[in-house]
Amino acid sequence: MSSALPPLPSLPSHASPELAALDAFKLATAAFLSKTLEIPLEQAYEGVESGKTGKNVTGDFLIAVPRFRLKGKPQEITQKLVDAFQPDAYLASISANGPFVSVSCNTKTLTKLVLEQINSLTYLAPAVADVEPTFARLNLKDDPNSEAPPAGLSLLKKGGYGTNLSGAGKTVVLDFSSPNVAKPFHAGHLRSTIIGAFLANLYEANGWDAVRMNYLGDWGKQFGILAVGFEKYGDEEKLREDAITHLYDVYVKINKDGSETGTKVNPETGAEESDGVPTAAATAVHDKAREFFVGMENGDETSLALWRKFRDLSIAKYKDTYARLNIYFDIYSGESQVSTKSQTDAVQRLQDLGVVEDSQGALIINLEPYKLGKTIIRKKDGTSVYITRDIGAAKERFDKYKYDKSLYVVASQQELHNAQLYKILDLMKYEFADRCEHIQFGMVLGMSTRKGTAVFLDQILNESKDVMHEQMKKNEAKYNAVDDPEETSDKLGITAVKIQDLSGKRINNYKFEWSRMTSFEGDTGPYLQYAHVRLSSVERKNAPDVVLPPPSERATSINTDLLCSGSDSDSKARDILLLIASYPDVVKMAFKNQEPSTVVTFCFRLCHAISSAWETLIVKGQEKEVALARLWLYVSAKDVLASAMRLLTLEPLEKM
Ligand code: ARG
Repeated sequence: MSSALPPLPSLPSHASPELAALDAFKLATAAFLSKTLEIPLEQAYEGVESGKTGKNVTGDFLIAVPRFRLKGKPQEITQKLVDAFQPDAYLASISANGPFVSVSCNTKTLTKLVLEQINSLTYLAPAVADVEPTFARLNLKDDPNSEAPPAGLSLLKKGGYGTNLSGAGKTVVLDFSSPNVAKPFHAGHLRSTIIGAFLANLYEANGWDAVRMNYLGDWGKQFGILAVGFEKYGDEEKLREDAITHLYDVYVKINKDGSETGTKVNPETGAEESDGVPTAAATAVHDKAREFFVGMENGDETSLALWRKFRDLSIAKYKDTYARLNIYFDIYSGESQVSTKSQTDAVQRLQDLGVVEDSQGALIINLEPYKLGKTIIRKKDGTSVYITRDIGAAKERFDKYKYDKSLYVVASQQELHNAQLYKILDLMKYEFADRCEHIQFGMVLGMSTRKGTAVFLDQILNESKDVMHEQMKKNEAKYNAVDDPEETSDKLGITAVKIQDLSGKRINNYKFEWSRMTSFEGDTGPYLQYAHVRLSSVERKNAPDVVLPPPSERATSINTDLLCSGSDSDSKARDILLLIASYPDVVKMAFKNQEPSTVVTFCFRLCHAISSAWETLIVKGQEKEVALARLWLYVSAKDVLASAMRLLTLEPLEKM
């Protein structure tokens, strides 16, 4: 049938029917507009909007005629379009409504092209070697801090249905998660992890090479404190078992020692209270800690060996948790990895450009003229600070990856720090200054376990898993049918946490709510997984009576016209079809506004369309040909839902 389609005009630059079938129909519409209204094709194409809902929309595409700025009344122009319209293999009908016209696609062509395309890009397209290109192109292999993604993750397929090539040849570096060793992994880090990993996928889905970088807080006086604490409270075995928890425990204990003060008697109440003066022991903790850190900065091997051990064991533990989250990093970097040279060079350049001022022995940059306050870049004792390392790191990253964009996925609390950093890079006349961008996000309110205790990500994930496990047990029959309830409940729990996080606009705060996020009802993570599981089961349930042919034979042996009778059940099929056809646009839209919620909303719309089709668009007991066509639609919907879920870093479940 494809061979019988009328020819399409040569394309405006961003239309790509070979990746997004809907673009062919938009092009056909644009060609009609261009010819009838005598406007350039490009301009006509821009005016064809899909995915719109609302009272003006009476077809698949909406065109607001006034945007073309033509002579004559809008109503005359819409009438002209209605009169000139001739249905063809692409376009079925047109209708006018005030200054708008709506155009509808030919359902048979749409159905056939969309299902064939999803099938071919999911199963037949030459597998674009998944992560290898980024590794090769960017020479990540030569970097001692880099590693290939661990096996067993459920990753987005590059070049798969929904993706596009708009960013081909461009590189983005994403700095995300970036927790501080020996300090809690707080809600801000959780959001950074989830949003950052999503954005990395999203850039890749839009053709970019993405470098996922974890910039650990792994340098500073806190390591001195930790070293002093480890001498007193440390336990090698516990360290090896769970470095993150143990180091945190040690850190809390030694900090308590370090903040001890003397006491005095309150003359009014007679009660004993703190005199605010650190005890000798407390002062000693800090003195020794400072000494240790100075040792680290001066390259003292004994100090560095201990620091390295803490760091390596912590990273090993982080990696397990990230893998549990279906997330990985190409690079484990950190503040410690920024070379001293980059930092001294940076300070030198700032001095040469006359940007720094001396302030009682410390070096500061006055950013008052930009309403960004003042910031210290070198302390009195000569040690560097967070922002100095960030300045050095930005340059190092650029030298290495020649990034077109560098994203810092960090909570909004660090807005000032980021704004200062980018301004300083700009004052340093670096060409990459305006390629840096702070991806902000709001706060999570009340993230803790149900008992109200949690500092570690693992505790939150364990709790979420337990809640899902309890939920699952409520349906005994189903529960007994699940192969691995432990693993399934863990994945459901993680989906619950992620979907709660990605559902709203990034910048908004949200309340962490156990019962809502773990419910199977409403737009939640578990509901999404449930929808995917149900789609997966259609194939299993209909075998061996109805079995799809192998992907290479589907286009020729399945009659998709059988989904287009115009009946009520087929109108459900059309709803699903139009949604899955719009997925490539969703990926572009999400990229444009860098918003996860665009993809989440799409997933739920698709799930709702599918759930309202189950009752009438039945596979079981239908005539074989009809059953096959319907099954193919469901499987295609499942493939698209799975891709969207992977884009969101989720691991779609086959059974639960
Ligand atoms: N470690 C920092 C923190 O937890 C976040 C680092 C963000 N990235 C950066 N390049 N500053 O607050």
